[in-house]
Amino acid sequence: MSQKNRIAIYPGSFDPLTNGHIDIIERALEIFDKVIVAVLNNPSKNALFTMEERVQMIKQSFNGKNSILVDSFGGLLVDYAKMKDAVAIIRGMRALSDFESEFQMALMNRKLNKDVQSVFLMTGFRWIFTSSSIIKEAAQFGGDISDMVPKPVLVKMLEKFPKQ
Ligand code: PNS
Repeated sequence: MSQKNRIAIYPGSFDPLTNGHIDIIERALEIFDKVIVAVLNNPSKNALFTMEERVQMIKQSFNGKNSILVDSFGGLLVDYAKMKDAVAIIRGMRALSDFESEFQMALMNRKLNKDVQSVFLMTGFRWIFTSSSIIKEAAQFGGDISDMVPKPVLVKMLEKFPKQ
């Protein structure tokens, strides 16, 4: 593969996309030519947004920027990465508490396919305490999350949890 087209997959539930995720995508684009934001299609997981809604919100948030592709996937992440000719899987690290499960997942992915590298990027300090779940919890009870998510996500969140 040409050095000019190094593709990385950034997988996740993205229920929904947060500014913390955006920070990681922007950092990944400093290393890779293209980042595929891949939303896990897992119907058994109790998500707030459908897979289609999550994909649409991510697309709207990046407004057609052509180094960022948005897709969904099911099955094994390493199989999806291989299908997309990706050389790396990106994961964001916030605090030490992320490390153990990420380490386990990376080692399993390496066992399944040694050619795809896991790359961990440290999130910006501002987003250390940001997660999709905590944002959903705050929004559910009327908390202001406007500086933690991109505009298209904020609009959809307010539809789900209208302010009284
Ligand atoms: O945002 P999340 O929920 O932390 O993302 C988890 C994700 C989607 C990266 C992980 O669940 C995943 O890769 N699922 C696909 C199934 C798979 O490949 N499992 C084996 C590696 S543990």
